[in-house]
Amino acid sequence: MNKILVVYFSHAGENYNVGTIEIGNTELLAKEIVAKNGADEFKIEPKDKYPAAYQEAIERAAKEQKSDARPEYIGDVNISGYDTIFFGYPIWWGDMPMVVYSFIEKHDWNGKTVIPFNTHEGSGNSGTYDILKSKMTGATLKGDGFSMAGSTARTNDGIKKLDDWLSNL
Ligand SMILES: Cc1cc2nc3c(=O)[nH]c(=O)nc-3n(C[C@H](O)[C@H](O)[C@H](O)COP(=O)(O)O)c2cc1C
Repeated sequence: MNKILVVYFSHAGENYNVGTIEIGNTELLAKEIVAKNGADEFKIEPKDKYPAAYQEAIERAAKEQKSDARPEYIGDVNISGYDTIFFGYPIWWGDMPMVVYSFIEKHDWNGKTVIPFNTHEGSGNSGTYDILKSKMTGATLKGDGFSMAGSTARTNDGIKKLDDWLSNL
């Protein structure tokens, strides 16, 4: 049986384009993927939570990126029991949030089928799917992934686009 896991990071709070939100843009997509596939999920939650205030969050993110930090996260998931892993995150400063690297580097990706998705506000996937390819040794990245503006992810139209993509996979 093909067991599916959805791993994602998403930051609620004050958002660049959509005001203050309780559920992040990427999380909305992740929840829909979970619902449509009856999948399990793991949310990457940093031990030291990112500030809700946008300006503070972007400053911390910039610092972490500059120092190539690997922030710790809460708990973990054993990915060995899953064949297919949807992997989602927002673009932060043209890259993945550093805590996402922490997760990638802690796991053995050999033999996994990985399907990336991300939200952004203009940068698309910003080359991060290529980074996933090089860092997830032994994994096969399926399809072109799914990249959507965060503001669109919060609309019915956005969720419909996601559903269409899921049914074409
Ligand atoms: C620290 C930070 C840096 C960001 N950098 C970029 C960026 O370089 N390019 C971009 O298109 N969007 C950028 N954004 C916007 C987010 O990618 C976008 O709002 C995304 O949908 C947030 O997803 P989330 O609600 O799941 O965290 C940034 C947002 C934050 C908080």
